[in-house]
Amino acid sequence: KKPNIVVVGSVNMDLVTGVKQLPQAGETRMGDSFATFHGGKGANQAVACARLGASVHMIGCVGQDAFGEAAVQNMERQGVHTSHISRLPKQSTGVATILLEEGGENRIIVVPGANHGMTPAHIQTAAGVIRQADIVLMQLEIPLDSVRAAMDLAYQHGVSVILNPAPAVSLSKEDLARISLLTPNQHELPIVIPQAAEQSLLDYPGKIVMTKGKDGVSYAQDGIIQHQPGFTVEAVDTTGAGDTFNGALAVMLARGAALPEAIMYANAAAALSITKHGAQSGMPTDREVQLLLHT
Ligand code: RIB
Ligand code: NA
Repeated sequence: KKPNIVVVGSVNMDLVTGVKQLPQAGETRMGDSFATFHGGKGANQAVACARLGASVHMIGCVGQDAFGEAAVQNMERQGVHTSHISRLPKQSTGVATILLEEGGENRIIVVPGANHGMTPAHIQTAAGVIRQADIVLMQLEIPLDSVRAAMDLAYQHGVSVILNPAPAVSLSKEDLARISLLTPNQHELPIVIPQAAEQSLLDYPGKIVMTKGKDGVSYAQDGIIQHQPGFTVEAVDTTGAGDTFNGALAVMLARGAALPEAIMYANAAAALSITKHGAQSGMPTDREVQLLLHT
């Protein structure tokens, strides 16, 4: 049976400027390229899951504008169910201004627009799909009260929740109790749980997977911190690597994989995604991940 994933989150258009080196304050530099790509952590994670063969419902909000229209069409083309994406009047679709340095590193400014128009009422409207999901996958580019509404609903119906706490905020003990898996990066974890990252991993064994870019992933098992290295590839654009990781992790866990196996698969998927420009370009199919895993 196909894994059934619900993604609750943001939809953005990414405006990407390529530059050799980032400018200093007050400095003007000439860039090398400009392109728009479909983005937003929510949409990216939904597309990652769909590429890997899952059935995916996206719950999100866009504006009644050209970017919103294009974003919904794109998700449909990728096989994501879009009937729970709302088109909000008088709000602009979220945009992310991305400065992409040579070598693949980036700096991102997100203007949330319609993403911040999501309310717990939107979540209630989609209660039917949440109830039937294997996993609800979320990030923090939408209002926290909506994230919490989805968490509560999933928890009531015994549906697992994976939260990618990006951008990071401090979460309560009650939040953490409703989450099956938390996937911060090394910068986010000390904000989500304000103490040393290693301590948090040990306090929540098997419940926190901390990503560290090309250095791979850490989590705790049997009272010790385990590390899983990433796959080495030529990085072109790291935008969306974390989203690919989260989507792949969700798909594997929904298929019943154990955490170490799911992490290995997700690391491979993320590595493949950074070999192409744009957050969603380069997101692999299951076959492509299997190929990398078996070479
Ligand atoms: O995680 C990458 C995403 O973050 C980009 O696509 C951008 O839209 C921002 O939301
Ligand atoms: Na990419």
